[in-house]
Amino acid sequence: MTSRSPGKRTSRRTRSAITVAASGVLAAAAVLTFSPTAHAADTLGGAAAQSGRYFGAAVAPHLGETDYESTLNREFSSVVAENAMKWDATEPSPGQFNFSGGDELVAYAKQRGKFVRGHTLVWHDQQPGWVQGLTGDTLRQAMRNHITKVAGHYAGKIDSWDVVNEAFEGDGSRRQSNLQKQLGNGWIEDAFRTAKAADPKAKLCYNDYGTDGINAKSDAIYRMVQDFRARGVPIDCVGFQSHLASNSDLSTYRQNLQRFADLGVHVQITELDVGGSGAAQANVYRQVTQACVAVARCNGITVWGVTDKYSWRAQETPLLFNGAYQKKEAYGAVLAALNSAAS
Ligand code: G3I
Repeated sequence: MTSRSPGKRTSRRTRSAITVAASGVLAAAAVLTFSPTAHAADTLGGAAAQSGRYFGAAVAPHLGETDYESTLNREFSSVVAENAMKWDATEPSPGQFNFSGGDELVAYAKQRGKFVRGHTLVWHDQQPGWVQGLTGDTLRQAMRNHITKVAGHYAGKIDSWDVVNEAFEGDGSRRQSNLQKQLGNGWIEDAFRTAKAADPKAKLCYNDYGTDGINAKSDAIYRMVQDFRARGVPIDCVGFQSHLASNSDLSTYRQNLQRFADLGVHVQITELDVGGSGAAQANVYRQVTQACVAVARCNGITVWGVTDKYSWRAQETPLLFNGAYQKKEAYGAVLAALNSAAS
């Protein structure tokens, strides 16, 4: 028995109809296959926006440098002042406020449609000298006045404020700062309530480092957030600084973000940088980005600087652009992770 090809029984008209239909199917398949790539964003901010997130950078006063500014403009949809909104910068003498650095950054961001994170209202570090010597109720009033004036000045312009920064130790105990020693456990709650009154619209965050997984420190912060939520203390978000190394253990990173998110707060990666280079560095950046996009309430990532050359860890080359503003391998890993979340 001879086999016959189906074509031998098909008329010319039918064949051409099949050809047209097949090419239509192929075209549709091509659209389906290639549309995510065709629509993949080619900047970090653009890629993050596809899933409703921001991708930001900490900014230091280098906006006059052409490559710095063009990289910032192109890639990032959110900014945070690396130092300009801290207590020593904004209130160098009691009651004398200087908003110049922060105002410049906020104006710059608003003109370009970028979000602004506020960093930070209360921290044991970078306090002006006059605060360090205060005691008891005088310190309490100084803290409240500082929050009221700074958060009030920027009210309506800040997406999320780091109200309190780094108040816990690695073992989960409270850091024995001047604030803790002078004001007792209630000072964090006091700071959040004061910030809420000053800027009711901003998301109010607690921010810390060393919380890159489930550990004693993140457990303690988790209990605090749980308690605040139960008692109606206004807290809206938790910042995970994420100052990492290429060999950081991230085995519980996503799970940790998720348990905080499950308390009803947003989670944000707030100061990401990863010491190292090449594939190892890129892999850590990828894991962090994938973790954030896997958690619905993780609404943004901020890297702690634009270029390696101005990083506080410059020798460890921890950022996404090298000193010549070239994209590093880690950049590609982050961009791909953001784009795959969108598709
Ligand atoms: O402003 C002075 C300037 O007047 C002086 O000439 C110069 C001389 O060194 O110092 C300048 O201050 C420095 C400031 O950065 C601005 O450049 C301080 O000495 C320096 O200590 C300060 O470092 C900052 C550090 O926080 C302070 O602890 C880093 O830039 C900043 O990246 C870093 O950021 C922190 C976050 O806020 C919180 N999480 C950890 C993160 C890394 O430490």
